[in-house]
Amino acid sequence: MKTRIEELRARFNEALGAAADSAALENLRVEYLGKKGHVAALMQGLRDVSDKREAGQLINSLKTEVETAIAEAGEALRAAAVAARIRSAKKYNPTLRGAEELGSYHPITLATREVEEVFISMGFTIENYDEIVDDYKCFEALNIPKHHPARDMQDTYYLDNGQLLKTHTSAAQNHIMKKYGAPLRAIFPGRCFRNESTDACHENTFFQMEGMMIDENISISNLIYFMKTMLSEVFKRDVKVRLRPGFFPFVEPGFELDINCEICGGAGCPSCKNSGWLELCPCGMIHPNVLSEGGIDTEKYSGFAFGLGLTRLAMMKYGVKDIRDFNSGSLKALSQFKSI
Ligand code: PHE
Repeated sequence: MKTRIEELRARFNEALGAAADSAALENLRVEYLGKKGHVAALMQGLRDVSDKREAGQLINSLKTEVETAIAEAGEALRAAAVAARIRSAKKYNPTLRGAEELGSYHPITLATREVEEVFISMGFTIENYDEIVDDYKCFEALNIPKHHPARDMQDTYYLDNGQLLKTHTSAAQNHIMKKYGAPLRAIFPGRCFRNESTDACHENTFFQMEGMMIDENISISNLIYFMKTMLSEVFKRDVKVRLRPGFFPFVEPGFELDINCEICGGAGCPSCKNSGWLELCPCGMIHPNVLSEGGIDTEKYSGFAFGLGLTRLAMMKYGVKDIRDFNSGSLKALSQFKSI
């Protein structure tokens, strides 16, 4: 029995080394671990062995060895496939000045559509909303009264009539709650504006995508699930994220969801302010004051909201190092997104 086990182990290791794809691995699994496989045959052979305990242990350790080796080899194959896909993906190159004639979609449009598709598949509707709003929509309905210090972070451009360019897509929350009531699942992408100085990761004009889900028994775990699903669909792999507490008057509790900087791989670069992380998606549980202001019964319903930084997402997805490239108006540089 011992020699049979040894022989099988050697044969397995040889075959494993030669298994080049997941189909070969699956065949190997069936051959060794399947109902009619070698391990099952060994188990049956136990009947005729005198020291059943020792032989049984040997068979079991062979079995675990085979299981782990197949699982590890599968994992390695998957990782190699992802690495190959990333290597072959088209990368943005700001110095490329192609003389292409056809127009192309802006990378932010492409990223928006991709995220929209993910959320549509999860039952969300897409809403559109104005870029010019009033103080109530942008701040007061969101639990940010006049003179609240949170307004400092969101200075914007004001029109003579008192209206303003919206600083965040959250400005549509109140309108959408009133329009649909609860339960509701909606995303609303839009252009936002802030009066601030620009650098590689800040612009005065940028895109966000707000999302809201309101229903009975909505909790933080729903929020995390939707965020992770969306990111892994968009990046086509598991993305490293971290959740930190964050303060926004319209959510309680509030979080900052950061993703590992895809440009430097986490080492630190100007695109991520040298931190290795990029604030991508502030989020949280909608504050009861905001729900009541939108006419939602807070005894019955709760919900989450997030403000995905679409521009930053596009930077990460396409490896654009400087946010200002997006608004540069260089059609030639942007036209390389045509085939993506
Ligand atoms: N509107 C916030 C901002 O732009 C982000 C946010 C949206 C935070 C939704 C929490 C929930 O800073």
